[in-house]
Amino acid sequence: MIFVCGLTMYRRSERKRTQTSRANSGHATAAVKKAKHQHSDVSIEREDHMTVDKWTKLWKEDKTNHTPKLCTMFTKHVDKLINSRERVKTFVPLCGKAVEIKWLWDKGHEVVGVNCGDKALKEFFEENKIGYSVVNIPAVKGKLYKSEDGRIRLYCCDFYQFNSAIESGFGAVWDHSGSLIAVDLAEQEKYVDIIKSLMGEKCVNLTVLDELSVNYDKIRTWFTDGFRVEASDHAKADRNLKSFGIKGHQLYTIFKI
Ligand SMILES: C[S@@+](CC[C@H](N)C(=O)[O-])C[C@H]1O[C@@H](n2cnc3c(N)ncnc32)[C@H](O)[C@@H]1O
Repeated sequence: MIFVCGLTMYRRSERKRTQTSRANSGHATAAVKKAKHQHSDVSIEREDHMTVDKWTKLWKEDKTNHTPKLCTMFTKHVDKLINSRERVKTFVPLCGKAVEIKWLWDKGHEVVGVNCGDKALKEFFEENKIGYSVVNIPAVKGKLYKSEDGRIRLYCCDFYQFNSAIESGFGAVWDHSGSLIAVDLAEQEKYVDIIKSLMGEKCVNLTVLDELSVNYDKIRTWFTDGFRVEASDHAKADRNLKSFGIKGHQLYTIFKI
């Protein structure tokens, strides 16, 4: 059984397997990094390096974990994100077809997302019956899906091609992708550097992470000069997520000061 979170795929298998037996069986590649939890009959493996191509394939096969309802952390804390401002330019990294995009747009805000896999973006506009156009954007080696009113701009490209020369001055970031827990350290810093470069004056960033590898100390180390981090809320994982070794979700609020 597979659970995909951000850039990570967790695979739960029902047979007892040890790291040694995996190594011997030839599966101990860079892709399968480690068994996080080992019970008598269940093992959890974390597969890193979910490439853009693998994601595009998952979207084509309808195997992504799109969530059709608003995230509880979002509904509970969106007032903090928006902070009584109008037409807030909001960034949604690794957006898929997140329902929070439509919610923000309905409230009059501007939403910019980045996602690989055209299918997610096409489906976002078509399922929500929002008219859109598509143009090539060579600077990101991808495409831009834009609503007719221009307030939703979803870039179909590799996140690491996106930067503040393309879009900048964000007033809010909704980061529910969990990507920070997924990538290797060098990539985590690269990811954080892009996010920081996009955060404009008084930007509020709500970042939801599971608790496998990023903690409060790490977040505070990344967001130092010019930023303040609060550990704002915590939600316990449901049974399904618990079976993948995920205890809960932590919400961090990161302020640009
Ligand atoms: C957990 S899913 C997000 C699902 C979304 N919340 C929804 O409800 O549809 C993570 C998303 O990140 C995208 N993604 C993963 N790696 C990416 C990368 N390097 N660049 C751009 N998008 C990426 C995938 O295509 C996928 O849609």
